[in-house]
Amino acid sequence: MKFFIDTANIDQIRDAQELGILDGVTTNPSLMAKEGITGKNNILKHYVDICNIVDGDVSAEVIATDLQGMITEGEALADLHEQIVVKVPMIRDGVKALKYFADKGIRTNCTLVFSPGQALLAAKAGATYVSPFIGRLDDVSSDGIHLISEIRHIYDNYGYQTEILAASIRHTMHIIDCAKVGADVMTGPLSAIEGLLKHPLTDIGLEKFLADYNKGN
Ligand code: G3P
Repeated sequence: MKFFIDTANIDQIRDAQELGILDGVTTNPSLMAKEGITGKNNILKHYVDICNIVDGDVSAEVIATDLQGMITEGEALADLHEQIVVKVPMIRDGVKALKYFADKGIRTNCTLVFSPGQALLAAKAGATYVSPFIGRLDDVSSDGIHLISEIRHIYDNYGYQTEILAASIRHTMHIIDCAKVGADVMTGPLSAIEGLLKHPLTDIGLEKFLADYNKGN
């Protein structure tokens, strides 16, 4: 399973990179705004800064919602850095844009996916990644993890190569549950990733090992 961090916060991206388990970064306009990164030039520079910290894929979202606008923006984003993956919304022109980028060899992440049908279309159009938003489904009493398992089933039926990138992950159990149902990638906050390493029995056990070692010294 690949681990992406879902933030535009440089300190958190550095922390995750230093942990040695980071495979990439996802961002969106809301995450950029949260860090106070506004204005086209600042946002583009921020993408390059992120690429220079991590080794893996960095998703950068188009703002246009028409085909030509998405193509122009997406090509400019892809030209910024070889690690950039162009994030395209699951709308009618977005599907056309995914196909256009696939034919051009530009990697994409189809975002704002909430149903198996949308995921099937994204794969048909040749998306590199599909991003089902599991936390937002849970928010409206729909089962986000179930959607991941449905997409896994459909993709495996036909051998689609599009990677399932479980997004809108809110906590550590989301990561575990996504791993159980076969998500290829998860993207979440640093807190959810760090939750994986914590167990009270580890702390208690280590304390006892050290205490016993020190008895003889
Ligand atoms: O990866 C998508 C993510 O940024 C959305 O997360 O928590 O706003 O639903 P959230």
